[in-house]
Amino acid sequence: MENFNFYSPTEFVFGKGRENEVGFYVRKHGGTKVLIHYGGGSAVRSGLIDKVRASLDAEGIGYCELGGVQPNPRDTLVYKGIDLCKAEGVDLILAVGGGSVIDSAKAIAIGVLYDGDFWDHYCGKAEVKQALPVGVILTIAAAGSEGSPDTVITKEDGMLKRGAGSDLLRARFSILDPELTQTLPAYQTACGATDIMAHVFERYFTNTPEVEVTDRLCEAVLLTMIKETPRVIADPDNYDARANIMWAGMVAHNNIVGVGRQQDWNSHGIEHELSGLYDVAHGAGLAVIMPAWMEYVHKHDVMRFCQMAVRVFGCHMNFADPEATAMEGIRRFRSFLHSIGMPINFAELGAKEEDIPVMVEKLGIGSGKRAGFMELSAEDVTEIYRIAAHASL
Ligand code: NZQ
Ligand code: ZN
Repeated sequence: MENFNFYSPTEFVFGKGRENEVGFYVRKHGGTKVLIHYGGGSAVRSGLIDKVRASLDAEGIGYCELGGVQPNPRDTLVYKGIDLCKAEGVDLILAVGGGSVIDSAKAIAIGVLYDGDFWDHYCGKAEVKQALPVGVILTIAAAGSEGSPDTVITKEDGMLKRGAGSDLLRARFSILDPELTQTLPAYQTACGATDIMAHVFERYFTNTPEVEVTDRLCEAVLLTMIKETPRVIADPDNYDARANIMWAGMVAHNNIVGVGRQQDWNSHGIEHELSGLYDVAHGAGLAVIMPAWMEYVHKHDVMRFCQMAVRVFGCHMNFADPEATAMEGIRRFRSFLHSIGMPINFAELGAKEEDIPVMVEKLGIGSGKRAGFMELSAEDVTEIYRIAAHASL
């Protein structure tokens, strides 16, 4: 196991009705004037924004509002948010929604205190030195942004999807009420589940030996997702299954399952070009890319893929032919994703094979290699996109 620091300062507030306490938590974490930031309307339609206003009113906390965050959140709304916060003297940003809203809130939090273009932090020109505090009310279990130090924004000019990260961006508090996720359509629920599993796999496939405790934690989250996702697809109001998925989504990405080990993240990088270019859901893009990446890299460490196949997907270990076991595990993963309604190839996702060179170019690998579980050249990534384009069950 490698040396590590684990820092997760967020106060998690979990359970039924906890969103009604938001005013208390804003005050506790120093907020006196709040920006309520939300998405395309689900939080308004469900009555959640009314509850938030009532709770802030009851605590005597002032607020302004900015809705309209799109999935794959855009830089254009971030600029509006920064201007609004400066004009209104906002001192805490409250994200009410999913990963897109939270990531947009984090970008605004950076921009309000930065004397320049917030995008500098997403294109490697600047590091986050300060940010306004962010609070969260989560409405979809997926991205894990409620516990992560990351934010991903899409620049409309060129549809460039890029990320920034800093412990300063970890939410001060995150309210997780599983009931709020019961209004999610099955497709969004499945996209979220896929993202959660991908966050674990990005950590599970490592070159660091002897990391039994995090291996086992990863497997626990994956087994939970395999059990609970079909239950909520069949019965969207199943509170306990929703609750297990919501906590799994947080655990999958605040890095508790990834400490002390080298991580990969190439599937995410490769996927971000897909959701950037076609504006598809991140989880759906991962359903197409992640099994393709697995097929391409499995020979790098066949026994690690066998471990996944046996412990997570219940395969029988074929000692005479470990590769067959590894491939059977990957086949079962893809088939699970298909069973919950996810696309498994470019046609089902709405992507085009002829765009592969554009996506590879945007990744900017040049003649070098992307680091990770297996280092990947531009040719390797091209082959992964090709496998993804033609995948079948
Ligand atoms: O906009 P509204 O109307 O709210 O609808 C949203 C949106 O259309 C809907 N939705 C959310 N909660 C709902 C609901 N509909 C009904 N009932 C509810 N309770 O779901 C749709 C998707 O929302 P979004 O926030 O985009 O989903 P998600 O949480 O999957 O976030 C995806 C974004 O997070 C980024 C992704 O790249 C993508 O841009 N990621 C962020 C990470 C991070 N910050 O740590 C890590 C991830 O790997 C990921 O890259
Ligand atoms: Zn993700």
